[in-house]
Amino acid sequence: MSIDKKFIDKFVNITSQAALASSYLVGKKDKISADKAAVDSMRSNLNNLEIKGEIVIGEGELDEAPMLYIGEKLGTNEGPEFDIAVDPLEGTNFAANNLPGALSVIAITEKNNLFKAPETYMEKISTKVNEKNVIDLDFTVKQNISNLSDYLNKKPENLTACILDRPRHKQIIEELKKLKVNLKLITDGDVSGALLVTEDKYNVDIFLGIGGGPEGVLAAAALDAYNCNFQGRFLFESDEDKSRAFKMGINDLDRKYDLNEIVSGDSIFCATGITSGDLVSGIKIEENKFVSETLVTHKSSGLKKVIKLKQNI
Ligand code: FBP
Repeated sequence: MSIDKKFIDKFVNITSQAALASSYLVGKKDKISADKAAVDSMRSNLNNLEIKGEIVIGEGELDEAPMLYIGEKLGTNEGPEFDIAVDPLEGTNFAANNLPGALSVIAITEKNNLFKAPETYMEKISTKVNEKNVIDLDFTVKQNISNLSDYLNKKPENLTACILDRPRHKQIIEELKKLKVNLKLITDGDVSGALLVTEDKYNVDIFLGIGGGPEGVLAAAALDAYNCNFQGRFLFESDEDKSRAFKMGINDLDRKYDLNEIVSGDSIFCATGITSGDLVSGIKIEENKFVSETLVTHKSSGLKKVIKLKQNI
């Protein structure tokens, strides 16, 4: 089964409207309001779609977030059954501080094809090389770089690694420096970071490190459409995290997941720019119209492109 193409435009519209709503709060130094604007827009627009949707990756769980929580049902309750992952505002700091890279993101699969995960950290690795045993979460950084270097026939000093600039990555960053690999250190936004391996124009060969689990699942949906490689391992630290994981049916807490264990079957992924970044430009307002750019993938039709729209506000 595949997801009908008619849904592509509908989901592009969902993230475009959420990005517009959030764009009014760009540079207001208010992460919460910028996020809420995107959440509210996404929620009400999703509820108008003729789908039976369920949030599997959302803005929290029932006990902590009133909107777009994991398990929330969305749509008119007619039409196809979808699993939905959302990050209405990915890069809350970027939006609050008017910095490049804030996005509104959604991924959809048919029911039971998207990993249901609580909001925890995830160890991630991704490259465009989709072959087993070239890169692997269980290999050392040195091994991964050496394998990638051999596979791509590029010296380590000609490889670029993207990683979140965080103290927890000190060792990985030191190791990459020692290997003379070029760094692309991002301050936030690792959905976009992971997607930089998809096309040569971004000049990133490997993405790695620990970031949000939901962001990992969302990135995996797009990486699947690009036929790239991705592995993730959720990090359940507190007892609370562990018991939430068990409740969601995750029994082996240390398991490493390959891309197709995280997302399978057909999918649609949309990421609309709120502020301009590596993947797409941000929202531009021209009189009573707005211009949005959305990176869209639809796995079964092979669609992978940036859609630019000019619409009435
Ligand atoms: P928010 O939009 O929720 O602020 O997330 C931004 C982000 O940079 C993600 O892209 C990334 O996965 C996560 O935060 C990393 O978490 P932390 O800032 O705790 O290292």
